[in-house]
Amino acid sequence: MCGIFAAISETSVTSALVGGLRALSYRGYDSSGLVIAQRNGLQRRRAPGKLDALSTLLKEQPLEGFVGIAHTRWATHGAPSETNAHPHMTPKVAVVHNGIIENYSVLKADLESDGYRFNSETDSECIPLLITRNLDKGLTPEVALREAMAMLDGSFGIAVIFASESDTVYAARLGSPLVIGQGATGHFIASDAIAMASVARNLCMLEDGDVAKVRVNEMSITNTAGDVTHREMKALQVSEHDQGKQGYRHYMLKEIHQQPEVVRNTLNHYCDNASFTLKDETFPSNIARFDRLSIVACGTSYYAGMVARTWFEKYAAIPVEADIASEYRYRESPLSPNTLSLFISQSGETADTLAALRYTKEQGLSCISLLNVDTSTMAAESDSFLRTLAGVEIGVASTKAFTGQLMVLLLMALRIAKASGRLNTAAEKAAIKELFTLPVGLSNVIDQLASIKSIASSLMQSEHTLFLGRGTGFPLAQEGALKLKEISYIHAEAYPAGELKHGPIALIDDAMPIVLVAPPGPMMSKTLSNLREVAARGAKVILISNHEGIELASEHITHAIEMPDCDPVMMPVLYTLPLQLLAYHVAVLKGTDVDQPRNLAKSVTVE
Ligand code: F6R
Repeated sequence: MCGIFAAISETSVTSALVGGLRALSYRGYDSSGLVIAQRNGLQRRRAPGKLDALSTLLKEQPLEGFVGIAHTRWATHGAPSETNAHPHMTPKVAVVHNGIIENYSVLKADLESDGYRFNSETDSECIPLLITRNLDKGLTPEVALREAMAMLDGSFGIAVIFASESDTVYAARLGSPLVIGQGATGHFIASDAIAMASVARNLCMLEDGDVAKVRVNEMSITNTAGDVTHREMKALQVSEHDQGKQGYRHYMLKEIHQQPEVVRNTLNHYCDNASFTLKDETFPSNIARFDRLSIVACGTSYYAGMVARTWFEKYAAIPVEADIASEYRYRESPLSPNTLSLFISQSGETADTLAALRYTKEQGLSCISLLNVDTSTMAAESDSFLRTLAGVEIGVASTKAFTGQLMVLLLMALRIAKASGRLNTAAEKAAIKELFTLPVGLSNVIDQLASIKSIASSLMQSEHTLFLGRGTGFPLAQEGALKLKEISYIHAEAYPAGELKHGPIALIDDAMPIVLVAPPGPMMSKTLSNLREVAARGAKVILISNHEGIELASEHITHAIEMPDCDPVMMPVLYTLPLQLLAYHVAVLKGTDVDQPRNLAKSVTVE
């Protein structure tokens, strides 16, 4: 949450700073600002609202220079406003901060008692004030920074610029990621590698406790102990190609359309496409040595885990518990020693999932993560990690990362089944061969779903919706409801269809549209019975099913989204598409900001 970008360059940094913030604005987008070093001191521009507001301000009040720091904010302490926007500064130092300072009220009282005045309501402002107090005591900039850091409880990634050392930016991290990129014109610092695509070719990740001193042609890093340390420079994996919308109106739509490619990349990474077998070596070697699996995640990643629970139980016969990370981390659940803990996260930075991982590691259990960002904190802290091959996901509402997670989880279930002797070679080949048809199947479904726009228009006036499903259809219903509420702001809830009569049926009337996920299989007829129950009470029903299901329920449905027949194992991946597209088109019709919905941020690094 919150994006940091800094540049120390031979050429003017203003457009690089704004470009970096644009690439990072999925991390938070309620205000932004920058500070650039000038001959007459540090100069600042800040604006509430989306980044365009800062761009407009910079046209009215231009600011150019060779060294600068910038920030896009997701508010934690203090409302989104110009005063609370970063950078926070004194005449001596300016700071941008990502993270949370937990002891800020104690620090604030202490600083105020020494006569240092706060201008904002943020926790972050205590950092420049602590540094300024240290400078006032006569400490050098670097020592003033280190001593301030030692007083902070919580997590931070910061970039700092001093008026007295205006050719340098300091970057420091404790818990919040920071990368340093090396480009043709100088050095750049960012909270996510994606922001480096147009400016740097190589980058290194700072580790917790590191302080980097970065100049245009040189950089040195010291660790927690203050010793000079080396962090390996790696070639940048993010291309500019990943960044643009490539002709799509929104990143979310582009990412929905990228899903066939994500599935293909995943299959090619984890399976041999000539022999149709799993590449066993791409999975952690200890993966099958456990008798329980514990899945922990948040939001969409949690729903992927919920879908996969069925696969692990069915194919690998391994009992599974799936938990929401923010609950799990405080539950102090007794963990059985023979449990494999699996943490699922697109970003690899989600604070609750990371805390759950750390808790589990402290208990001495083996931790695997399933991540979309190789350079993330969870990648560094897990015993091993599996990659989703979704590529950079910019739309705040997760789509292709979910599909990527489903694919890897399915293959992981098959891998465990194979290792335990439950999946023989013939069955393995048959399953993998079938999965290789999925990318084409997904593309066909995307093409056929063009008509979903008219169904979306029937939902756009609704205040509430109920999503129903059974089996894996239930977590898909949850994911569909989450997509709809987060981007269209329509209240959407999901229930297991069989639970309807235990309470929620009281909500049903003609103002409560139902989205019912009823794929073919043993539970279809029961789900369609639930459909008749809600239709009988006046609900308008959007049914997502195959031809047979739609025929069977035809007299009770208002709209049908017909899906092709497919192997049941592929169903969750295919049935995700109409749910994503339905939410997308409702949001477009309502005119919301699809890629940056209100109050949200892509990577939730606070609990
Ligand atoms: C919803 C969404 C969120 C994330 C959740 C976990 O569309 O994107 O619910 O799934 O914040 O994020 P990660 O997967 O990065 O841990």
